[in-house]
Amino acid sequence: MSFATTHYDFTDPAQAYADLARDLAALLGAERDLVANLANAAALLYHALPDLNWAGFYLPAIGATGARELIVGPFQGRPACVRIAIGRGVCGAAAVRRETIVVPDVAAFDDHIACDAASRSEIVVPLLRPDRAGDAALAGVLDLDSPKLARFGDADRAGLERIANIIVGACEWPG
Ligand code: SME
Repeated sequence: MSFATTHYDFTDPAQAYADLARDLAALLGAERDLVANLANAAALLYHALPDLNWAGFYLPAIGATGARELIVGPFQGRPACVRIAIGRGVCGAAAVRRETIVVPDVAAFDDHIACDAASRSEIVVPLLRPDRAGDAALAGVLDLDSPKLARFGDADRAGLERIANIIVGACEWPG
């Protein structure tokens, strides 16, 4: 199967995301390596979804001062900001809230961090996995940026949360 040439028809977003979820699961297969799976997931999403200029992951890290932050992981698009403090930007806010954030106009989001001036709208989906106590631990965030205003809607939120679950389940996470 050639994932690079698959066309997804987003005139029916629910069907397109269902197809994409199926193909992502097949692409990751039995592989558990975190970097390999995040890299292939970023590439699949970047090429499958129309009107994106960035698709990738930020992962939890500890900064020089010992503070918790996010560090850029596998992605497609222009080179990105490396470290983002937890709570800062859309990624940091989604990490704190542990919920998906859709930003229709990044210029109207006070704390938006502009890595690529072309970005106009954004969606950030937290990757959550159960810790030993059974609580939801933050494994990372999935960040998609678009040069189009209001690119992401409810179908994207639902579809990408499903995609995020597949990614969480497919990978061996540190810690
Ligand atoms: N815009 C993001 C930063 C990450 S980049 O866009 C890749 C934010 O505000 O969190």
